[in-house]
Amino acid sequence: MKVLMNDQITKRNDIIIDIEDRGYQFGDGVYEVIRVYNGNAFYLQEHITRLIRSASELKMTLPYNEERLLTLLNQLVAENQLIEGNIYLQVSRGVAPRSHQFPEHSEAVLIAYTYKAARPLSLLQNGVSTILTEDIRWLRCDIKSLNLLGAVLAKQEAVDAGCHEAILHRNGTVTEGSSTNVAIIKEGTLYTHPADNLILHGITRQIILECANDLCIPVREETFTVEQLFAADEVFISSTTMEIAPVTSIDQKTIGSGTPGPLTHRLQQAFEEKIK
Ligand code: PDD
Repeated sequence: MKVLMNDQITKRNDIIIDIEDRGYQFGDGVYEVIRVYNGNAFYLQEHITRLIRSASELKMTLPYNEERLLTLLNQLVAENQLIEGNIYLQVSRGVAPRSHQFPEHSEAVLIAYTYKAARPLSLLQNGVSTILTEDIRWLRCDIKSLNLLGAVLAKQEAVDAGCHEAILHRNGTVTEGSSTNVAIIKEGTLYTHPADNLILHGITRQIILECANDLCIPVREETFTVEQLFAADEVFISSTTMEIAPVTSIDQKTIGSGTPGPLTHRLQQAFEEKIK
């Protein structure tokens, strides 16, 4: 497998990560996960735009320009002959003697690699079980930063309960999943948390809003409560890797009819059209 390290595509074993890399010591960096369908990176431009925004919110600059990054990522997918899978891309602030404040001189370290992954077809068809837990993350969840402990702990809680995802709430208001956005459908209207500082502005969430618009499903980018979540007709989670996955239970309580709902299904079909 080939890996992109700064502007070189090389073998994985030839790469050296410094012990004083700030990504490694402080989680001081940003990342993206990009889906590859039929050998093409899906919504690549949108992911790179978000990466640049995340980096800029942390006062970091990428080692080279956007155009070069797009070219190198497409080249990486081609060299690895990836047909169905993901690209993982991260940029750290770079290498410097360990001290919390930004170093005076450091150059961003960018790495990207690809891995094969099939679409989660049975989960898309049958739905996923989830738990509800408190959102203990920081207040800049709009930045796709390498600091993921709040998400890691929540996901582990879900896995320990035999579930796929943890749905998070802050004081009774639902924010998102540990690695997904969350939406509910009530009486034909789709509700999803507004794209503010408390959630990641998901690319899949944005595609879903476009699909909803095409399908004339009314959308409200408004917060909803835990009570509204449990009382929803349909609930689904979305991400690059999970696409649009129906939620059939939360804390072992059945959602709607306990099977994937009709509007979720229509959104899945519209999404499917885009990946063809
Ligand atoms: N997770 N919310 C959080 C907290 C996420 O980590 C993700 C993505 C999403 C969905 O965003 P998008 O639709 O752009 O993938 C929402 C990625 C896939 C991950 O960390 O593996």
